[in-house]
Amino acid sequence: MSTKSDSENVSQEIRSLREQIRHHNWRYYVLNQPEISDLEYDRLIQRLIEIEGTHPDLITEDSPTQRVGGQPLTGFSSVRHSRPMLSLSNTYSRDELKEFDKRVAKGLQDQAYEYVVELKMDGVAVSLVYENGRFVQGATRGDGVNGDDITANLKTIKSIPLILETSRIHVPRRFEVRGEVFIEHRAFEQINQKRLEAGEEPFANPRNAAAGSLKLLDPKQVDLRPLDIYIYACLAEEDLPEKHMDILDLLSELSFKVNPHRHLCKDIDQVTAYCDSWEKKKDRLPYEIDGMVIKVNDLNQQAVLGATSKNPRWAIAYKFPARQVTTKLEEIILQVGRTGTITPVAILEPVELSGTTVGRATLHNADEIQRKDIRIGDRVIIEKGGEIIPKVIQPILSVRTGKEKEFRMPEKCPVCGADVIRLPNEVAYRCISVNCPAQVERVIRHFASRDAMDIEGLGPAVIKQLLSFGLIKDYGDLYHLKDSREELAGLERMGEKSVDNLLEAIEKSKEKPLGAFVFALGIRHVGRVAADVLAKHFGSLDALAKADIQELPAIHEIGPIMAESIRAFFDSDRTQSVLAKLTRYGVGPGIRKSETSQGGEGLNGKSFVFTGTLGEMARTDAQEMVRRAGGQVMTTVGKKTDYVVVGKEPGSKLKKAQSLGITILNEKEFKEMMARFARGFG
Ligand code: IVH
Repeated sequence: MSTKSDSENVSQEIRSLREQIRHHNWRYYVLNQPEISDLEYDRLIQRLIEIEGTHPDLITEDSPTQRVGGQPLTGFSSVRHSRPMLSLSNTYSRDELKEFDKRVAKGLQDQAYEYVVELKMDGVAVSLVYENGRFVQGATRGDGVNGDDITANLKTIKSIPLILETSRIHVPRRFEVRGEVFIEHRAFEQINQKRLEAGEEPFANPRNAAAGSLKLLDPKQVDLRPLDIYIYACLAEEDLPEKHMDILDLLSELSFKVNPHRHLCKDIDQVTAYCDSWEKKKDRLPYEIDGMVIKVNDLNQQAVLGATSKNPRWAIAYKFPARQVTTKLEEIILQVGRTGTITPVAILEPVELSGTTVGRATLHNADEIQRKDIRIGDRVIIEKGGEIIPKVIQPILSVRTGKEKEFRMPEKCPVCGADVIRLPNEVAYRCISVNCPAQVERVIRHFASRDAMDIEGLGPAVIKQLLSFGLIKDYGDLYHLKDSREELAGLERMGEKSVDNLLEAIEKSKEKPLGAFVFALGIRHVGRVAADVLAKHFGSLDALAKADIQELPAIHEIGPIMAESIRAFFDSDRTQSVLAKLTRYGVGPGIRKSETSQGGEGLNGKSFVFTGTLGEMARTDAQEMVRRAGGQVMTTVGKKTDYVVVGKEPGSKLKKAQSLGITILNEKEFKEMMARFARGFG
């Protein structure tokens, strides 16, 4: 045990642990070449957590234990990029590439020049700002000029260094790197598998999954998404090499993750050859690329070429055409989702496409099948872009034999036989029965899913058995299962131990916060974020259940469609009955302090808006302080704003605040105010 007398030793050990962890993070997440086992790595982390636990004063923001920190945000604040984040103009042909090269040659008045060719990652562009070797702010591209501050989310990405090893290499005091956040194919499939199990809509492709993850308000949720990043640019006012390739090498030396597949080309023919080689082998990569990026190597020459308002003239993207193959559409099957939607899915004669064997494809909906005149037995063209599940593009009419069968949406549900209807303004067909076993099973799967009640061990196979043996009829019955121990132990692949674990997980789920519970109910259109908003606003399920249809859309983030769906949900007899069961079994989570914006005694829900750069503290920390003291952080100034905290180079928010007569605080005043509250909490 450490004591005060050996505080030197404690600091020393903390420093050493952090340094080792930083090194092994880099070996594992950046180089993909670990030097120690996972177990040994976990031991280092555990030891650090232990010491920091007994010496909380020694915890720093950039400690590896602080990657997943803070309370969920209520929204992202906006940040202005130091220089606009432009996009690239696209080409799809060699001829266009040659045209680009001619424009470059002309712009450089026949000086010699070279190109760097890189992979074009199909992900989400982000910017990361480093000050004094520390990661201080990360943002999305946004509209190119202003992005969202997603620092807390980006910190969860282990290949992003929080501290740079700058003892050997001189780096500018403040600089920015830009890169692409992405998700590998394998991880993407796992995420979608989980979403499907939870009755949620799967992400269409890895890019959407990455974008969706970065927009989550709770860093703890983001941490569950296996995001990664490749850095492809660096901006600084000074001290940068003059060649882009040297900058990439420098970034790599500084422990950033830079894609190793990059190539210096002397002329456009070499560029095309390198692009062609990647077009052939791109499917062997574990992640999605949608083309190549060609950049003039010399930064002075880049400056001479300049940019239009949207794109630089010194770079271009060469996009690969999407991969297509033809195969036979053998059958169209129907899937019934949680809310009764019936989706047609194409069963194909298995075929190779982009390195995988494809046996199923999306058909979207019945309208689309009609519009494209897709028939069972047709030869069809299928295409795979960034998504794992390919799409049926069109039938090949010229090879029709006449034996193909037209598809008709059935009038009865394929699972329960109830009527199938189509609501006005909806493309989807639905099974009208609320007792449809397919739906009931998916509703319970959703209820038990991770973001909802998180009941481990309650997977699809167990739910199916519970339903078919009549042990449960809805999720309300789950909490009564403890009286059916014997029956449970009789289920397939359920031993005593798994029964214990399952019952324990069910009991434990009673502790879930209100936001998770509201989400678990599976109200149509109410996602995880909206569920949190509702939890915060109403504070109890009772209050939400009684919410007025007029009152709901007045809440930020809740639209009229969601409002109607919430009302319809609570008005249904079925809901009443399941909620009554939950109440009877003692499931009725209260709101947690951390969930409510009005709850903190300190700032008592007062709202703060930040503008400009704070000098001594990161903006995210300042915002966190506000939330912890019971205040609210908003991104836009309005009549209801109580304080605007102003840093260096404030934006238009300051003017607006002045015109509305809102109290303006500088950093010092803000800190003093926070210190008063800290004392107030005693
Ligand atoms: S350089 C001035 N390099 O493609 C533009 N971009 O529209 C600087 N991207 O928004 C971008 N891989 O998100 C660059 N190796 C790469 C890239 C890359 C992917 C993305 C980036 C950008 C978009 C271009």
